[in-house]
Amino acid sequence: MTPSIGLRLDDLTHAYAGRNVLDRLNLDVLPGQFVSFIGASGTGKSTLLRLIARLEKPISGTVSPLPHGTSRDVNVRVMFQEDRLLPWWTALQNVQLGLRGRETDARRLLEAVGLAGRESLWPSQLSGGQKQRVALARALIHKPDWLLLDEPFGALDALTRVTAQQLLEDMLRESPRTVLLVTHDVEEALVLSDRVVVLGGGRVLKDLQVDLPRPRHRDNARLVAWKQELLDGLLH
Ligand SMILES: Nc1ncnc2c1ncn2[C@@H]1O[C@H](COP(=O)(O)OP(=O)(O)OP(=O)(O)O)[C@@H](O)[C@H]1O
Ligand SMILES: [Mg+2]
Repeated sequence: MTPSIGLRLDDLTHAYAGRNVLDRLNLDVLPGQFVSFIGASGTGKSTLLRLIARLEKPISGTVSPLPHGTSRDVNVRVMFQEDRLLPWWTALQNVQLGLRGRETDARRLLEAVGLAGRESLWPSQLSGGQKQRVALARALIHKPDWLLLDEPFGALDALTRVTAQQLLEDMLRESPRTVLLVTHDVEEALVLSDRVVVLGGGRVLKDLQVDLPRPRHRDNARLVAWKQELLDGLLH
């Protein structure tokens, strides 16, 4: 298995219309670590993922792989809140998007996300949760070094969301990679991540190490206490 690659944010700064959204942000994410970002709406979480994915260039500062000197190109994939599937392509074709000769891998991944037998359905024939699972399979087929998830389960109902979270956890156990998740769901962050980073004012306000064994139980006393602490922090 190829070793995981982490990342370093070094004085990362970005602004829109002269207003700083990210202000000299510094953060190391270790290879294979799962880090969640939470923070009020408009604090720059999506901007941060776009800069890391190189969809936009920062005003100053850098995003670099860890360990330093990693020579191969870093493969980055982003999954957004909306599935962004192509409506005129089937589930299978969407997973294979831009890849030749990967049908077996695509079928295996669709099976892994619980969609065996639905390969030839169009996105319009799938539920919201099923479409997000196709989008997850499409991100994972590329075996990204950095998997960036921007509120991927935000539009799902509570039950479907828990199932999707478990699925993501299972898939990462089989095939570990460095994951950055943006979410408004504090419990989701605590159940899934090694660290929860709170962003505010363009900086890191809090960096919480979630040192609980997995799988985690939502009623674990420490998890419940952290959830309350984080929610209190977000509200005030
Ligand atoms: N392309 C853009 N042009 C101008 N301003 C932008 C642009 N993209 C984002 N912004 C501004 O930058 C700030 C951060 O936006 P961003 O989308 O990163 O926030 P967010 O933390 O992801 O919010 P949310 O939780 O609501 O998704 C906001 O004030 C937003 O209005
Ligand atoms: Mg956002």
